[in-house]
Amino acid sequence: MSGTATAAFTGMPNTEESWLVKNGERVTLRAVRHTDRPRLRSFIDTLSRESRYYRYLTGGPVADAVIDGFIGRCPGRDVAVVVTSPAPDGSEAIVANAEYVVNAEGVAELAVVVADGWQGKGLGRRLIQRLQQIARSRNLPAMRGDVLSENRRMLAIMRDCGFSARRNPEDSYLHEVNLTLGAQPTRAATAQWLPADWFAAS
Ligand SMILES: CC(C)(COP(=O)(O)OP(=O)(O)OC[C@H]1O[C@@H](n2cnc3c(N)ncnc32)[C@H](O)[C@@H]1OP(=O)(O)O)[C@@H](O)C(=O)NCCC(=O)NCCS
Repeated sequence: MSGTATAAFTGMPNTEESWLVKNGERVTLRAVRHTDRPRLRSFIDTLSRESRYYRYLTGGPVADAVIDGFIGRCPGRDVAVVVTSPAPDGSEAIVANAEYVVNAEGVAELAVVVADGWQGKGLGRRLIQRLQQIARSRNLPAMRGDVLSENRRMLAIMRDCGFSARRNPEDSYLHEVNLTLGAQPTRAATAQWLPADWFAAS
C-alpha cells in the first residue's frame, strides 16, 4: 500500500495539514518526526508551570524519556502529532502536541498540550477532534483520558467533544474521561456525566 493510500486509510494527515487559528495565523499539523527532539524539548521547557503540571503531572523538568516516548510511538497503532508555526528565523516552532496510545484493551489513551501563548485559540479542541477522527477511521472502540480534577478547561472541552467524565474512584484528584467511538452514548453513560454547569465554575 502506498504512503498516500495508507494515510487515507488510517485517517492520518498525508504529509501536513494547514490550519487557520482563531487569531488568523496559519499553523501546520503533521506527524512527529525523530528530528523534532530539540523542538519538543524547547516547547516543553517553555511551558508554564501550570501547563506542565496539567499535562505531565510535574511542575519541574520533564525527562528526556518522555520526549523519546512521544517520538517513538508505534506507527500504525499509536498517533503522535505536532502543530508547528514558522519561527522568526525561518525555522519552525512546535506550539502544540497531541497523542493517543492504544492500550491493551484497544482503547486510545489521549493527551494534548498547547503552548501557553497559543491557548484559547481553538487548537486544543481541534486536535482532540482530529484524533477522534483518526481513532474512528481505525475502528478503535473507544477513547479515554485522565484529567486533573482542577483542569476545568480540559474537562469542558472534553465534554463538548462528547466525552463523559467521572471522578476517579481511586484518586479524587483525577477525572476519567471516556468516549465510545462510532456509537451514541448510552443512558447509563450519560447518567455518570457531570452536570453542564459544573464545567462553568472557575
Ligand atoms: C487544555 C488545553 C489542551 C486546551 O487547549 P486550548 O487550545 O487552550 O483550547 P481551545 O482554545 O481549543 O478551547 C478552549 C475552550 O475552553 C473553554 N474554557 C477556557 N477556560 C475554561 C474554564 N476555566 N472553564 C471552562 N471552560 C473553559 C473556552 O471557553 C474555550 O471554549 P470555546 O472554544 O467554545 O471558546 C490547553 O489549554 C493546554 O494545553 N493546557 C495545559 C495542558 C493540559 O491541560 N493538557 C491536558 C492534559 S489531560
